Amino acid sequence: MKKFTVLFLFCYFVNAYKPVILLHGIMTGYETMELIKGRIEEKHPGTIIYNIERFGGWSSLDNMWYQVNELSKNLVNISQQHPEGVHFLGYSQGALLGRTILQANPNHNVHNYISLSGPQAGQYGTQFLHLFFPGAALETAFELFYSRVGQHTSVGNYWNDPYHQALFYKYSQYLPFVNNELPSNKTAQFKNSLTKLKKLVLIGGPDDNVITPWQSSQFGYYNGNGTVVEFTERSIYKDDRIGLKTLDKAGKLKIVTVPGVNHFMWHLNVSIVDNYILPYLD
Ligand SMILES: *[C@@H]1O[C@H](CO)[C@@H](O)[C@H](O)[C@H]1NC(C)=O
Ligand SMILES: *[C@@H]1O[C@H](CO)[C@@H](O)[C@H](O)[C@H]1NC(C)=O
Ligand SMILES: *[C@@H]1O[C@H](CO)[C@@H](O)[C@H](O)[C@H]1NC(C)=O
Ligand SMILES: *[C@@H]1O[C@H](CO)[C@@H](O)[C@H](O)[C@H]1NC(C)=O
Repeated sequence: MKKFTVLFLFCYFVNAYKPVILLHGIMTGYETMELIKGRIEEKHPGTIIYNIERFGGWSSLDNMWYQVNELSKNLVNISQQHPEGVHFLGYSQGALLGRTILQANPNHNVHNYISLSGPQAGQYGTQFLHLFFPGAALETAFELFYSRVGQHTSVGNYWNDPYHQALFYKYSQYLPFVNNELPSNKTAQFKNSLTKLKKLVLIGGPDDNVITPWQSSQFGYYNGNGTVVEFTERSIYKDDRIGLKTLDKAGKLKIVTVPGVNHFMWHLNVSIVDNYILPYLD
């Protein structure tokens, strides 16, 4: 009997996968993340999964800082229950939110953070805009978002119009700060919270059709004339503003580009889970 117990404990500890936190995208809820949850449970039996249910549907349009502050309570609670560490995956807007939740909580114990097609460098695209403002025009959307009222919405917080950068920096209360493009009293914290990750995985691809430009999922973005600049050529990386370069030099930054995946399929495609997510969950 004793031998059995020892063997059992041995197997238990060897096979103990870290818990995984999942955060859904905009205008949907946790239900859309159930495929990923199910596949992880199937392939990594025993994994505890926290599929966050808050801010589904219209409430996903709440101000980003409000969501970050609220969801931080969930992260703290989960972390306290799992001092051994957890992993975190966010999809779409949830990928940007999740990243910011880490930055807002420098004592987090997230080991690997997986960003599944998130607008990490911002968003400037018609398809995305029309998900919630069907009549709005791309060229004039900045008038809506770069205002005090516009900043009440999550989308306004990371709407990054390459042709109206002065207004972006003037009005946006969120993206220029979390990307350390504008200084704040949290500049150092925003960087240090990310460099402590064991892995930062940025998944995106050229057939996304919603995240625009799709390279934003990997911190690339438009310059002032509408040309996409890869993240390694942008100040956020070159000047190591949020630690991307530090992570990269340490082999902790994983850039994953997958063609042939539409934005609404990333989280519904088992082969994405198998090939690009499970390898980062231990
Ligand atoms: C913390 O998480 C547990 C289990 O998920 C839950 O029962 C509890 O209500 C949470 N506490 C707070 C303060 O959110
Ligand atoms: C940091 O900045 C925020 C927002 O500007 C302000 O509310 C807060 O009081 C500042 N904290 C410190 C310690 O200066
Ligand atoms: C746009 O910017 C890129 C990079 O800064 C530059 O190489 C290119 O010549 C510019 N194109 C135009 C049309 O100005
Ligand atoms: C699912 O993901 C694979 C890559 O792992 C991709 O080749 C395929 O096109 C995707 N299928 C759909 C329907 O998005």
